[in-house]
Amino acid sequence: MNAPSSRPDFGDSAAGECILIVDFGSQVTQLIARRVREAGVYCEIAPFTQAEAAFHRLRPAGIILSGSPASVPEEGSPRAPQLLFEAGVPILGICYGQQVMTHQLGGEVRPGHETGEGGEFGRAFLTVSAECALFDGLWQVGERHQVWMSHGDKVTRLAPGFAIVATSDGAPFAVIADEARRFYGTQFHPEVVHTPDGARLIANFVRHVCGLSGTWTMAEFRKTKIAEIRAQVGAGRVICGLSGGVDSAVAAVLIHEAIGDQLTCVFVDHGLMRMNEAREVVALFRDHYNIPLVHVEAEDLFLDGLAGLTDPEAKRKFIGKTFIEVFEAEAKKLGGADFLAQGTLYPDVIESVSFTGGPSVTIKSHHNVGGLPERMNMALVEPLRELFKDEVRALGRELGLPQAFVGRHPFPGPGLAIRIPGEVTRERCETLRKADAIYLEEIRNAGLYDAIWQAFAVLLPVKTVGVMGDARTYDHVCALRAVTSTDGMTADVFPFDATFLTRVATRIVNEVRGINRVVYDYTSKPPGTIEWE
Ligand code: XMP
Repeated sequence: MNAPSSRPDFGDSAAGECILIVDFGSQVTQLIARRVREAGVYCEIAPFTQAEAAFHRLRPAGIILSGSPASVPEEGSPRAPQLLFEAGVPILGICYGQQVMTHQLGGEVRPGHETGEGGEFGRAFLTVSAECALFDGLWQVGERHQVWMSHGDKVTRLAPGFAIVATSDGAPFAVIADEARRFYGTQFHPEVVHTPDGARLIANFVRHVCGLSGTWTMAEFRKTKIAEIRAQVGAGRVICGLSGGVDSAVAAVLIHEAIGDQLTCVFVDHGLMRMNEAREVVALFRDHYNIPLVHVEAEDLFLDGLAGLTDPEAKRKFIGKTFIEVFEAEAKKLGGADFLAQGTLYPDVIESVSFTGGPSVTIKSHHNVGGLPERMNMALVEPLRELFKDEVRALGRELGLPQAFVGRHPFPGPGLAIRIPGEVTRERCETLRKADAIYLEEIRNAGLYDAIWQAFAVLLPVKTVGVMGDARTYDHVCALRAVTSTDGMTADVFPFDATFLTRVATRIVNEVRGINRVVYDYTSKPPGTIEWE
């Protein structure tokens, strides 16, 4: 994983129009970034080990120090580069960030067990005890407000210059401030939704305290990116693999706007798409946008190769490898290209700090065009590297992509193959496509599509006995999955009501031959994953 190579160029007038978030390994650091972006301000996350370099590169107008699973009093726990406190730039320390700032500036932090009070976890109420720039237009002295706490250690003596501006039962130093230096610390987490005013507190920090005007809009991004793409590509040729998903589509449309027909898109149709999906992608690109598109119909190649494969990793590997081979062959036919465009997003490039040590285990080998750049020896054009998924959707809308396309649920590279545990056959794909289409149609009719991160049907290699009319049936089980999520890393089960699920189950069993039983998957992630394989 690499850090973004440079910050977006807003021109000299906007130098420093951004916030640096120093990551100490909190689970929710990305949420801080989202809240800052929602306030119309660009920001980047840097691990604490690289924060100094990021500071010099970004020249940020403000700094936010994240939470952490570590403990400040413990030897070897992370510290912020001291230079950040001497740069004359406002700082907001959140939880561990507050504690580490206090410690590094001469205050005291003690472990929860030493103070005899233990930690404080979950919903808490604080009382505002003094005015503070963070509270401007939001909280008044004497008011009580709900916040979300999650800490074991706490500040027990302030650093010189700081004053308490809010207290809670478990954290007498719930919010501290040094208004002269514009340093602030919250013991609670303003970035999570369980702190109802949290987003507005963060907006106050970045806009009022740091003085940023909120120029981070997708209209602005579109303009600056187009100029960047032109500068990078020059007269070169770019090839872009379309997956049918939102990210590669938005990247392609943006690049096409920048360099026109120097871009060619290649859509490798592996025959594992949902109902009508391949047709829609081709129509959108060829007819709507008039973007040069090569549609490779490779269903036979993929399905013949999948015959007999039942192991999830073997299926994934075969599809990934075959995809690369087909893509490469098409690129050759086109006479080669100088650049490969990819819809890589910010969550893929953030180097989060891991406290577990060592490389993480591979749960699934994800299929995207990841192996292509090395193999084809091409430079990358990745215009979405700084964006979160919701920002990509906003950019898609800005570029005029239809809402129905922009709002689409994510779809995995290996497609239906990982929603058919066991062997994948043409017949099983066909059966699954029908069930899936009914499920999604009902979700749309119920107005629930946009409230769900991902919903899909899974065809199980399990047969059960049923009865239809007077006859015995012996057919497959179909599982339905629907989850809410912000980034696919964790997910909660979507709580459909029973009437809805009953309606979908009845329709699937009645309308799809080969399925006689429908079940709903109630597993969150973790411990489950979103896809079944
Ligand atoms: P899991 O199943 O790992 O999925 O919880 C998390 C998110 O990633 C998607 N997914 C993939 N996306 N290539 C992709 O581009 C893949 O190989 C792949 N596998 C899973 C999944 O749909 C969910 O949104």
